[in-house]
Amino acid sequence: MAAIEVKGLNKTFDYFKKEPGLKGSLKSLFWRETLYHHAVKDVSFSIEEGELVGFLGPNGAGKTTTLKILSGILYPTSGEVSVLGHVPWKREAVYQRAFSIVMGQKNQLWWDLPARESFELNRDIYAIDRGAYHRMLDELVEIMGIGHLLDVQVRKLSMGERMKCELIAALLHQPRVLFLDEPTIGLDVISQEHIRTFIEEYNRTKKTTVVLTSHYMRDVERLCRRVLVINDGRIIYDGALSELADRYVDHKIVTLRLARRVPDETLARYGSVSERNGLTVTLKVPKKDLAQTAQALLSALPVDDLSIEEVAIESVIATMFAEGTGRPS
Ligand SMILES: Nc1ncnc2c1ncn2[C@@H]1O[C@H](COP(=O)(O)OP(=O)(O)OP(=O)(O)O)[C@@H](O)[C@H]1O
Ligand SMILES: [Mg+2]
Repeated sequence: MAAIEVKGLNKTFDYFKKEPGLKGSLKSLFWRETLYHHAVKDVSFSIEEGELVGFLGPNGAGKTTTLKILSGILYPTSGEVSVLGHVPWKREAVYQRAFSIVMGQKNQLWWDLPARESFELNRDIYAIDRGAYHRMLDELVEIMGIGHLLDVQVRKLSMGERMKCELIAALLHQPRVLFLDEPTIGLDVISQEHIRTFIEEYNRTKKTTVVLTSHYMRDVERLCRRVLVINDGRIIYDGALSELADRYVDHKIVTLRLARRVPDETLARYGSVSERNGLTVTLKVPKKDLAQTAQALLSALPVDDLSIEEVAIESVIATMFAEGTGRPS
């Protein structure tokens, strides 16, 4: 059985329109117009136990909403969800002990207490056996290297240190499913790298199922072989990250180092010039003509060096979002 099974999930938010100013406030006492926002549209996917899946999409696409439904924080409007055999919004105690959600944008630790006390509180809440708790805490603190920070008020920690504590707090009860909503947001590159390495190791060694959202493609490239891409509430791609470029991009990037200047018009015969920096030129060349074009470039132009690369994953994703429809170009 899959660890996470989502079928035909929909979420429509209703909220009240508020007209500006005092007049608007008064008017709304008597009559309020209800507005609807269909944030999650017929979303279906299935995730196997132990998988680490990236959940990508532009701002407002519906990622957090979906993760909140999977965590039982929000009720869906319709659809079926099963996580480890549980319906999340029933909020059964067994389910609460089986998953965790960490939101990079939200602080879940007690701000005025040292992390150690928040951890202790979690031990109570999740009724974690003392022995298991200490073993897990020691292990996590060791990996994260934050032993010296356990007794410092959380509000005094740096963002990176706080995120490490958030992750520890989320993992003390050894959840089998972990939802990470932008766990590296706002962190410097070194802290991001620490968090990434940790997530990767944790998933590999504990076989915990992880769903991760991030706007940093480094996170995704490093951690996720499979991605779900959501745009405007709809899943537009579910598959291997490595196949995204194949499916959505019809060109490759050819970079030439020229021995002398070649006019743009000449270069344009081989592909569209996307960058030109002195004698280094970048061309977008259609994949279907690639071999032929590379040959032609080498024989016709004064080329010192030629390299061929896939379009960067950032650009692939940007292309998908720009299209909106998710149809291959
Ligand atoms: N409580 C709410 N009431 C009304 N609309 C909401 C509510 N919560 C979320 N939305 C809307 O639902 C849509 C999806 O929001 P969501 O937070 O899931 O996006 P997201 O994919 O997580 O985006 P981001 O990358 O910016 O975090 C947005 O348009 C948002 O404004
Ligand atoms: Mg979000």
